[in-house]
Amino acid sequence: MSAIELKNLTKKYGSLTAVNDLNLEIENGEIFGFLGPNGAGKTTTIKLMTGLLKPSSGTVKILDYDIQVNPIEAKSNIGLIPDEPNIYEKLTGREFLRFMGSIFKVEIDVIIKKTAELLKIFDLQSKADELIQTYSHGMKQKIAIAGALIHSPKIIVFDEPTIGLDPKSARTIKDILKFRAEAGDCIFMSTHILEIAERMCDRIGIINNGNLIAVGNMDELRHMSKKSGKYDLEEIFLELTNAEENSELIKSLS
Ligand SMILES: Nc1ncnc2c1ncn2[C@@H]1O[C@H](COP(=O)(O)OP(=O)(O)O)[C@@H](O)[C@H]1O
Ligand SMILES: [Mg+2]
Repeated sequence: MSAIELKNLTKKYGSLTAVNDLNLEIENGEIFGFLGPNGAGKTTTIKLMTGLLKPSSGTVKILDYDIQVNPIEAKSNIGLIPDEPNIYEKLTGREFLRFMGSIFKVEIDVIIKKTAELLKIFDLQSKADELIQTYSHGMKQKIAIAGALIHSPKIIVFDEPTIGLDPKSARTIKDILKFRAEAGDCIFMSTHILEIAERMCDRIGIINNGNLIAVGNMDELRHMSKKSGKYDLEEIFLELTNAEENSELIKSLS
């Protein structure tokens, strides 16, 4: 059984096909990087995968639960950190974590224990009882991440991580994700930061104009590149998303 299974997944917004017939299986214990230029369809895929959007066609299975048929079972296994976390500014950090835990029906003593651990890991103890609206951008991001981890999800989905995080916090998050993957959880993250993808991910998928144009580990992606062997992920990414054509245009700009 795969952690995440996407079958012929398609999402149309009117005449625009944001995600086109996507097929992908991601295993437990795997860190999967989802790369693509702005507007490629990353966030739409993540929203479909986590049940925030209904597909135009195709299916999503989370640990074998179809997200349309068994939404509660499927969603209870997911911890989602969206690109724009919609956190409740009028709650304190501690209240927010308790709220998130109660949504996922985590027992209260577990919530209290995990809240203390997460606040410590993210260095938010001194702010725990202040309103989230007084937090800095990075602190808000950290409490959103903590909120997504409170129910110990088997699948962590992260849309564009590490924006606005200081190096220590970014490192904490990387360490958490790596540790969770080693413990058997599945990590799915979309990112613009190619270096993070290259260093952290077991496999990488590249999406462009709604189409999944490449999937594989770094070695396999290198073989898909016409100039195989010599290039790093940035070169492969630019080549596969046709950015070279653009560089010709840039040169012709007067
Ligand atoms: N709610 C929406 N209504 C119409 N078009 C949308 C909507 N959300 C996203 N799109 C379009 O779908 C495409 C994919 O967007 P998105 O999944 O957000 O890309 P990414 O996260 O890769 O930057 C873009 O062309 C975007 O403009
Ligand atoms: Mg996005």
